Amino acid sequence: MNILVTGGAGFIGSNFIRWMKQHAPEHRLVNVDALTYAGNLESLSDMPQEEGYTFIRADIRDRAKMKEVFEQYDITHVVNFAAESHVDRSIVDPEIFLTTNILGTQALLDTAKHYWKSAPEDKYSREFRAGVKFLQVSTDEVYGALGKEGMFTETTPLAPNSPYSAAKASADLVCRAYFETFGLPLNITRCSNNYGPYQFPEKLIPLMIHNCMQKKPLPVYGDGMQIRDWLHVSDHCSALYAVLTRGEAGEVYNIGGNNERANLEIVKHIIRTLGAEEALISYVKDRPGHDRRYAIDNTKITTRLGWSPAYTFESGLAETIAWYQHNSEWLEHVLSGAYADYYERMYAPSFR
Ligand code: NAD
Ligand code: TYD
Repeated sequence: MNILVTGGAGFIGSNFIRWMKQHAPEHRLVNVDALTYAGNLESLSDMPQEEGYTFIRADIRDRAKMKEVFEQYDITHVVNFAAESHVDRSIVDPEIFLTTNILGTQALLDTAKHYWKSAPEDKYSREFRAGVKFLQVSTDEVYGALGKEGMFTETTPLAPNSPYSAAKASADLVCRAYFETFGLPLNITRCSNNYGPYQFPEKLIPLMIHNCMQKKPLPVYGDGMQIRDWLHVSDHCSALYAVLTRGEAGEVYNIGGNNERANLEIVKHIIRTLGAEEALISYVKDRPGHDRRYAIDNTKITTRLGWSPAYTFESGLAETIAWYQHNSEWLEHVLSGAYADYYERMYAPSFR
């Protein structure tokens, strides 16, 4: 396979590239990333540009560039991670979420359709080159929020509540349309919250680890009893590979490891592990439209594709905390510059 990995300098994309090098090194990887504030090539410093791996700085909305990449590397598969991914940022500035997450995905779909179609100029033809696949990496947040009971299945209606999840849901619908109308071989995956190494410290787990290490306040939104379903990033990567290689065209697969935890429980676990004080917890104003609970029913991917996660939440979190303790240089570098300004705007008023 010649795989175009978009957003490969971000958290999950960089972990996916490393996972592929370890578990399926026979495939060529072309990493296209615009290097926004969330893209960091230091997360791939152990991946030299060599036979089998190439990095290209480009925007997925740049159709001419995407065409050039497909042609130059004879792309046979796309794993589309590139996105604006942080809910809090989408509340402050929604527009870039819509352009990147929806129009960026559409530009990639059009490029793949044109390049892979057996008769590109025939609008009625549904014939594609054998073995090609477009994988849209989506999120459980497209389903909206759950109450105390129930889980998201692949047939749960889409009901996104934030500009981020609305943009991801829109992209999912565009993908669906490209399968139904054009027959483009694709899958959509919807994964629960990820954690692990190289996650940008604006998301809950790395932010709390960093602040604990620095003895800084721990900003818990609302009552801290919101529930997320956590999965170690390497388990997400193995699930993506299973779907990429064995998923049935046109199907959606939920990905999750049955690890529901309240935010406060996680924060207290991190505090205990790092020997910090619970007094650091600072309850701040709740996020507008904050989803109360997410939970993934993973029956389809476990039974049809035989996938299962390798990590328990306890082992994954312990390893992740240790990783941040041993990689303070990576953390300091991502925390400088643009991120520092964002952090100041987002939290400083709450702590005054
Ligand atoms: P991230 O923000 O860490 O990484 C996104 C990457 O995309 C960055 O490297 C950024 O530079 C790049 N990018 C942004 N706009 C681009 C553009 N226009 N062109 C090219 N590159 C661009 O995000 P992440 O946490 O790694 O998430 C990756 C994907 O997985 C996203 O699509 C997200 O919706 C999805 N997802 C994330 C989670 C999670 O818990 N983090 C869970 C489920 C699904
Ligand atoms: P986050 O990591 O932003 O992921 P998502 O919003 O995509 O689920 O947040 C996870 C949960 O943690 C969510 O309920 C919001 C909460 N949260 C806090 O309480 N404080 C924080 O500083 C952050 C970043 C998140």
